[in-house]
Amino acid sequence: MGYPTIGKPDHERRAALMGDYAHACREFSWDNARHDLTGLPSGGLNIAFEAVDRHAAHPARRSRTAIRVLDRHGSTQELTYAELAERSNRFADVLHSLGVGTGGRVFTLLGPSPELYVTALGTLKAGAVLAPLFGGFGPEPVRRRMELGAASVLVTTAALFRRTVAPIRSSLPGLRHVLVVGPDPAGERSFDGLLASADPDHAIVPTDPRHPALLHFTSGTTGTPKGALHVHEAVVAHLATARAVLDLRPDDVYWCTADPGWVTGISYGVIAPLVVGATVVADARDFDVRRWYRVLAEQGVTVWYTAPTALRMFMAAGPQEAARQDLSALRVIASVGEPLNGEVVVWADATLGRPVHDTWWQTETGAIMIANFVGSEIRPGAMGRPVPGIRAGVLAQGPDGRALIGPDGRVTVLDGDAQGELALRAGWPSMFRGYLGEPERYAACFADGWYLTGDVVHRDEDGWYWFVGRADDVIKSAGHLVGPFEVESTLMRHPAVAEVGVIGVPDPTAGEVVKAFVTLRAGRRPSEDLRRELLTFARRELGAVAPRSIAFAPALPHTRSGKVMRRLLRARELGLPEGDLSTLENSAEVEVGVR
Ligand code: PRX
Repeated sequence: MGYPTIGKPDHERRAALMGDYAHACREFSWDNARHDLTGLPSGGLNIAFEAVDRHAAHPARRSRTAIRVLDRHGSTQELTYAELAERSNRFADVLHSLGVGTGGRVFTLLGPSPELYVTALGTLKAGAVLAPLFGGFGPEPVRRRMELGAASVLVTTAALFRRTVAPIRSSLPGLRHVLVVGPDPAGERSFDGLLASADPDHAIVPTDPRHPALLHFTSGTTGTPKGALHVHEAVVAHLATARAVLDLRPDDVYWCTADPGWVTGISYGVIAPLVVGATVVADARDFDVRRWYRVLAEQGVTVWYTAPTALRMFMAAGPQEAARQDLSALRVIASVGEPLNGEVVVWADATLGRPVHDTWWQTETGAIMIANFVGSEIRPGAMGRPVPGIRAGVLAQGPDGRALIGPDGRVTVLDGDAQGELALRAGWPSMFRGYLGEPERYAACFADGWYLTGDVVHRDEDGWYWFVGRADDVIKSAGHLVGPFEVESTLMRHPAVAEVGVIGVPDPTAGEVVKAFVTLRAGRRPSEDLRRELLTFARRELGAVAPRSIAFAPALPHTRSGKVMRRLLRARELGLPEGDLSTLENSAEVEVGVR
């Protein structure tokens, strides 16, 4: 807290927007929200039909710009709703001719590009499942996810193919087709060639609302990455939240800066804005404050959904650039993915002319669950209040930080001003329907009718939610969720390494950065050369999720069950209280000596 609230609702906007929050919550029902969608002519529901075909069928909307991609070479590529509908039909036909039918898994390793939109929507039209991957991943995370997700098709670019896919291609025998955008490396298939000869009128597969649509990988504390599966009716929540939270309208120019390899880049970079019928700006170039300012101004962006790390970099760059640009078109700024400092909200209000609306959600929730609404009061530093249709709860925690579940399976829901694990009443349309192949892991996310988020929050007496921390060991670096286990098991493949413990350490810009503590095998001695070698190895294998720093340790603390105690590594690194060490196996011997 500590900052004055921003934007007390004025009476005119109140009715139309979320000013009267209690009223909006009372009036809302998911059944009504379903009526805001068209549905397939033959019955059923398909995300791609809602996102493009129904606009393309509308004489006034078909020639509007659906996507405008600013590519890596500085040129602009546009597709109208009609063109996007036709090309995604063609891609659905390509899948059909490759024998990929309903339930087939189509992976993408693509940056923002027309082909990404065509692949995503064509996959959904074919009734197949879209599984997007982050282009910044190294070969190892890509291989693991494609293996886990039983990929049958991968769409990528020649450059990403060479860098990331070629080294692992032979270890993925189930991957039947790699479609390459642009020049085609030997032996694979040309995306453009296949699209050119496909049927532009290929009919959409009739999917029902529970038909699998999206597979997003996310990370937990232990084990392999988790494949969170979403169904077509998630689009009900995408549309409802795009309107209620982002205030998105058909005449908006909308820019979501999230990479399309993560859930935000698909749910709010592709689906939500197209379902609304807005014009989506997508930018394929790397982050750069000055250029991003220019994109906002030159494209006349009206709604901007971005990340706290980017906003902190804007703030660090000073106000001069903002003063040079005309940002008068900008109506809404929202952010997601990591804690948003209240200072940034206040800075944006003063410098960009708009506050930042923080929003909270997760890969598993599929859509925004908690938000600071447009037209309503903002409490800088708070995540906001639950979206209409969502019931949030704060649950009493047990000694491990997670919600306490009684022997009868009941949880304790706290009232009023409280701190505990954030939980959501199960049953909203975009709730994930499973972790691929892991029914027990899925079941363990629920108790007593609540979905347990793994985040610890404080709810103030007026019902605003404030982020406190994670109840587990996952790391958030520049908005990307990093599973410590994945980093540890990759580093352990290096012949010098005996054991690894990976934690997040605070960073003023990225929120947290990844740090690895490494013990060495007998006969290997710590040295600067070895540290560099390990960093290079990790970077090559893992890509953007590799550790930023590595420290050698003579031994790591373990629990009695033999797991590395990351919590203790972190407490010692940061000089925090070490907490309850009763489960520690070797506390007497272990000093986390960092050399
Ligand atoms: O810890 C919370 C953090 O990001 C986690 C979800 O990450 P992911 O599944 O990658 O989804 C990211 C984008 C939807 C959450 O459990 N997180 C997300 N939003 C916020 C946040 N932490 C603090 N404030 C937020 N607004």
